[in-house]
Amino acid sequence: MEYFFDDQYNLNPADVRVEGIAKVTGKGKYAAEYKADKLCYAAFVTSTIPAGTIKTIHTDEAKSVAGVIDIITHTNKPVVPGMSDETKIRESRFGLPVFHTDKIYFKGQPIALVIAETLEDANYAASLVWADYTPDKFNTDFFGTQQQTALKSDGRERGTMDAWAQASAVVEAEYTIKTEVHSPMEMHATIAHWTADNKLRLYDKTQGVNGVQRTFARLFNIPNDQVEVISEFVGGGFGSGLRIWANTLAAVMAAKLVNRPVKLMLTRAQMFHLTGYRPQSWQRIKLGADNNGKFLGMLHQARHSSSVYENFGDGITRVARLIYQLDNLKTESAVVPLNLSTPTWMRGPGDCTGDFAIESAIDELCHQLGKDPVEIRMKNLALEKDPERGRPWSTNYINECIERGAATIGWKNRKQTPKQLSEGDWYIGYGMAVGAWNAGRSNASAGIRLQSNGTIIVETAMTDIGTGTGTGMQNIAHEYLGIPKNRIEVELGNSTLPPAPSQGGSTGLSSISGAVVEACSVLRKKVLELAGKLNTSYQNAQPADLLFANTGIQLKDNANSLISYSDLLQKNSLKEIDIEASSGPNADMQKYAFCSSAAHFCKVRVHSKTGKVKIERMVCVADGGRILNERAAANQLSGAAVGGIGMTLMEEQITDNKLGSTLSDDFAGYHFAVNADAPIIETSFINKPDLNLNPIGSKGLGEVGIIGCAAAIANAIFNASGKRLRDLPITPDHIL
Ligand code: MOS
Repeated sequence: MEYFFDDQYNLNPADVRVEGIAKVTGKGKYAAEYKADKLCYAAFVTSTIPAGTIKTIHTDEAKSVAGVIDIITHTNKPVVPGMSDETKIRESRFGLPVFHTDKIYFKGQPIALVIAETLEDANYAASLVWADYTPDKFNTDFFGTQQQTALKSDGRERGTMDAWAQASAVVEAEYTIKTEVHSPMEMHATIAHWTADNKLRLYDKTQGVNGVQRTFARLFNIPNDQVEVISEFVGGGFGSGLRIWANTLAAVMAAKLVNRPVKLMLTRAQMFHLTGYRPQSWQRIKLGADNNGKFLGMLHQARHSSSVYENFGDGITRVARLIYQLDNLKTESAVVPLNLSTPTWMRGPGDCTGDFAIESAIDELCHQLGKDPVEIRMKNLALEKDPERGRPWSTNYINECIERGAATIGWKNRKQTPKQLSEGDWYIGYGMAVGAWNAGRSNASAGIRLQSNGTIIVETAMTDIGTGTGTGMQNIAHEYLGIPKNRIEVELGNSTLPPAPSQGGSTGLSSISGAVVEACSVLRKKVLELAGKLNTSYQNAQPADLLFANTGIQLKDNANSLISYSDLLQKNSLKEIDIEASSGPNADMQKYAFCSSAAHFCKVRVHSKTGKVKIERMVCVADGGRILNERAAANQLSGAAVGGIGMTLMEEQITDNKLGSTLSDDFAGYHFAVNADAPIIETSFINKPDLNLNPIGSKGLGEVGIIGCAAAIANAIFNASGKRLRDLPITPDHIL
């Protein structure tokens, strides 16, 4: 299966995304777009220093602005019971307990919230709030100070470093990556509405409504079902919606204080500080091999940044333990606290960062030995079992990804020596890298509601951040019930629907698919039971004999058994048939290890006079188990690769370490890849099911589409230009 352009393939028009029309016509509502009676608007005031204490905060002038309803600061914040003392704040696991302290941890930290009748009033009044501070020493300089934080062993060494002291080829090199920001199109926003004394409704941009529900129920000491969280459409997340940030809590506090619904949407500039980012990182790799390129050992060291108020660990060294047979492996890491906000998971978190270093170092090794990077990888893959846990892979086709990727890009045209191919002022080169991600699954539930017109509604609380989860659910129901897709509706992203985990870590479809399959099976049994009361021929029938025909249900090979949908419901005194089912990991899964993987191959042009890099072709072949929906899957890989191109060539949040501020907090100063920077991504799937993971055999694709991307590009740049570049982003000045 390969998808470059839809029109090249006969894709079924019924395979469109279930939310596609609603999204492109503007009918689908994002968190900030809902209405509420007496809605008021809020705007943050943020700190102008990176560290210190607030002495006085001046709100009088702002309060006198017409339309201002109230202003929250640390001096008058409403009590949040779950954060009423230090211990509770810590237990709340809320990274930044907004307004709960006079301490400033980073520049841009919210210090006040203005609530007003209009957004304009709120913004204007917010501009009039100011504070006196006692400033403290601060540090925002990761690259200048990271070496002062001691590395610690990750505690799972394999073999010994001595084993490869005599390796005939050794690469030792350092790699760095600058801060990258998620930058989803939809801003983080919340409408908080206390609809009764202890009843909260939240329209919130999040990747997990049940997590938000549980957190606010706990913070306000109310039962879960008193908190309703709605996130029906999500305009991109990439991980920024996996945590609950200060803006959501602030909106909830404000709504409590003024006893009206409050909308708080972050500005684009605030999105650069208040909703996480991929932390900046330093890595060192020491890789040794014998003359044939067999890896003898590796040392992987990594540090990345976090905030001074929270220790976020990205897990950069995890991927070193996953892909290759490395009998001698040592990994060490450290987190460096800085006066910046806390980073968070961002697409391919940890692995994406670690993989850039490892896959670059392998390319360096291949160059040193004069060996082909494809051949060396094939020789060293851990294909039988997970080298970390020793369990056999349930399925692992990373070798097939490499072989197909090499064939697709025409790897045979690559020259082993750099700078051998050119056209005019452009050098041309090829590069490749692989990536892998632990595949997983959690407990999830789904419901199905059969209507009197024969339509079913498949539902879950899980959100769909654009990955195609809802479409996948429709496709599964179609497959397991035989109901045409135009009679299958999907509802998601509401905490009142059957509970499900957050959508993240490439586990969305893997988790929810089992629940939908189970729900289909429960529905068949329930319908048989209800039909049996109306027609005895159903009484001994098997669930598999049941057909959901256009006009009603019937038994296979028995047209006389037809019962219309409305009769089925009415004669059982039902408005609809409503079932719910759950599914999760089982004990058998303990026998196996699971991973998704991908190989990236790219062909680049590097301009010898300007240093401009053009990605001419990008091929991504993935093993994500069974591919349930071809378009959604291709779109996942393609979006991830475009993100990877941005990561490699342009994305960088710049810090001014004298002022302790970040610059480039907008899309003029922070560049990411747009259409002109990316070719059509040539995606392809191995498409073999992993039935030990879940009943449909899908393993997840969200992360593997980006993990190997940066190294593939950097390796191609080396092959084209002879420049080995170990620091991302690789902007033209690095190349010249
Ligand atoms: Mo992702 S970083 O699992 O949204």
